[in-house]
Amino acid sequence: MKIKYPSRFELANIPTPLQTINYDNKNFLIKRDDLTGSLLSGNKVRKLEFLIKDAKRKRAEYIFTCGGEQSNHARATLIAAKKYGFKVKLFLWGKDSLDAKGNLFLDNFFGADISFLNKENYSDVNNIMQEEAEILKKKEKKVYVIPEGGSNTIGIWGYIKFIDELNKQINLKQIKGIYSASGSGGTAAGMLVGASHLKLPVKIYAVNVLYSKEKLRKKIINSAEGCIYEFDLSCKLDETKLEIVDGYSKEGYKNINKYKLRLIKKFGQSTGILLDPAYTGKGFAAYYENILLKREGMKVIFVHTGGMFGAFAKSREYLSV
Ligand SMILES: Cc1ncc(COP(=O)(O)O)c(C=O)c1O
Repeated sequence: MKIKYPSRFELANIPTPLQTINYDNKNFLIKRDDLTGSLLSGNKVRKLEFLIKDAKRKRAEYIFTCGGEQSNHARATLIAAKKYGFKVKLFLWGKDSLDAKGNLFLDNFFGADISFLNKENYSDVNNIMQEEAEILKKKEKKVYVIPEGGSNTIGIWGYIKFIDELNKQINLKQIKGIYSASGSGGTAAGMLVGASHLKLPVKIYAVNVLYSKEKLRKKIINSAEGCIYEFDLSCKLDETKLEIVDGYSKEGYKNINKYKLRLIKKFGQSTGILLDPAYTGKGFAAYYENILLKREGMKVIFVHTGGMFGAFAKSREYLSV
């Protein structure tokens, strides 16, 4: 079935490679979405293709978005939005630093206007962004607000398109599942809609790193259902095709434990692939235990969603194991 996509800017280097990797004497398939670009890289770039185009179409002058101080999404949004002439404001959960590292270094380097929020204020970030947007609106300035992770009914088109792309690289009817780390849930939501639309029975495994199992499930289903409704797509969501893999972020979103750091290091030194501390390191630990140790790697694809700059912000921890 041919999918009719909303219009988009071409920001990502796609198709990204689907590689067969050998690790720990096990072969598995990895989809390299860390290679969508260099500074503008990772899973967010696919969503931003649709979001930035939508912002241009709506003639916005400013783009607002939010995330943690090491947010990959905020960094990618900043770079993409600047490229198209937008003014950008980031609302980040965390603290400023004179010695900013990783994504925060890039945010500063690319000239972001940043408002830092503590954890409590960040829980109200959508209202905070909306209130600032209203102030600018009164001055005749239009703001396009992108929610956390770019995960709304427009952004998730990036991962509907991803399924189409992956299905051209390998017949997804022969694949049991697709595994990835999940934060705001848009990546998994897009994959779920893409698979339903193309009538592929593949299961979507989302490793929750930020929200509880129940909250993430709700977020994913809401975004997916919202997209199907808003774009009048002729498909019905099968909720049994979504599995949340829980228990791999017990140390907290901003932390990573020594066991996972050792796995990241061993994996990196034998494959040349760097996993990040907030998302892919946790997602891969889940994939390793639940799929690779059961030797199902050729039937379940792991998606490397990027995030490498987060590793640079934790260089001391990475080198300590
Ligand atoms: C590297 C990386 N992987 C995975 C995710 C999770 O994607 P989503 O927010 O769409 O669930 C993110 C989100 O920020 C990310 O930066």
